[in-house]
Amino acid sequence: MKLSLPSSLSIKDGHLFCGGADCVRLAEEFGTPLYVTDEVHIVENFRRYQAALQQYTDKVQLLYAAKANENPVIMQTLAAEGAGADVFSLGEMRAALEAGMPAEKLLFNGSSKTEADLRAAIENGIRISVDSVDELRQIDAISRELKKQVKIGFRCNPEIDVPTHPKIATGIKNSKFGIPADMILDAYREALAMEYVVPVGMHCHIGSQILEVEPFGIACGVIMQVAAEITKLGVKLEFVDFGGGLGIPYHRGENADAAPTPEEYAAAVMPVFVEACKENGISPAFWVEPGRWMVGESTVLLTRVNSVKKVHKTFVNVDAGFNLLIRPAMYDSWHEVVVANKADAEDAGVYTVTGPICETGDILADDRKLPEVVAGDLIAVLDAGAYGYAMSSQYNSRPRCAEVLVNAGQAELMRRAETFEDMTRTVVIPSWHRK
Ligand code: LLP
Repeated sequence: MKLSLPSSLSIKDGHLFCGGADCVRLAEEFGTPLYVTDEVHIVENFRRYQAALQQYTDKVQLLYAAKANENPVIMQTLAAEGAGADVFSLGEMRAALEAGMPAEKLLFNGSSKTEADLRAAIENGIRISVDSVDELRQIDAISRELKKQVKIGFRCNPEIDVPTHPKIATGIKNSKFGIPADMILDAYREALAMEYVVPVGMHCHIGSQILEVEPFGIACGVIMQVAAEITKLGVKLEFVDFGGGLGIPYHRGENADAAPTPEEYAAAVMPVFVEACKENGISPAFWVEPGRWMVGESTVLLTRVNSVKKVHKTFVNVDAGFNLLIRPAMYDSWHEVVVANKADAEDAGVYTVTGPICETGDILADDRKLPEVVAGDLIAVLDAGAYGYAMSSQYNSRPRCAEVLVNAGQAELMRRAETFEDMTRTVVIPSWHRK
């Protein structure tokens, strides 16, 4: 089937190319399974997203959502462009700092932070998105002990419905994240009275893989209303962070997704933001935390066909499964698949691409029209750059695969494949098992 490919991909002489490199050659050189990422695509995405927002105000900061793909090399690429990061753990915080992102461009998010998390954020001068009053009080205690100022914002739950998978809708009424708008003023009041805690921001994130821009505009309206009220309380807002969530078109064939562009996102959100700032005489920076949109379309997962089985349907058994890309198993997500070594051949049958994991649900792509597939063919799973490797596991004792970075045709490893020894490195033998 003819797919509308992302700009990271092209087809030449029957082969799929990513970032100008031949996927068939990459698979031969580096082995499979293999993640392949086009770096130029990520840089272009960053610049485009930033430019779209800067049409409306100069005070824009992009905080890349590190959870989407925390490969340190990609973090460095984005740091060099001026990105900050939404970090959700000490690991992500460290990755962002080591990639060269300055502390003041980071926001430490999360609904369940440990004492060590909070301490590290305060010590490193990183702003914290506070998810509960309980957490606020813990921050107060640590900051007094350290005698160190800490800038915070509260995560506000705007309680709006968003058209996405329920597991990734985060700003709905019963979500575990954030504080409802009608309870948040008391939280700011309490923070204002603290000695070392300085409330300077607001945070929200309504969900992920959202293919309409209207909910972002509505959320912005709710948040800016709260911004006006906390300004009256005495909060001097330095930033309002609207989270991530802009979706990408995973369906690329018939009934392709109509995914909004960053320009459309900006047109839905920025006028609401700019107008509310003017009305209330405030000038916080506009922060936003795109993850998927930055990296999702930059990457393919290459996987080799081990065997083809014709029974009640035709299974294509490949060497990557939900150990490497869990999205289809976890959210019933759709990823297009292309036979990378027959990329312009006519469809010849309907195939179900299944991984090597010992679970019935290990299906990467169900009932897809593809050219004739035989053992040895190479399948590319598209749009695997966000929440792909980042959510991978070693289930069934399968080492994670390598990642290759491509830039204008040049291709090198950015992470080698794990070995059996890597997987067992942390194992400790209890004394009674030792001879
Ligand atoms: N900011 C916060 C606070 C978030 O929780 C998230 C994602 C983002 C930003 C980035 O959202 P994005 O721009 O990527 O939509 N594993 C799921 C997605 C989980 C998203 C979690 N939070 C998936 O594979 O679809």
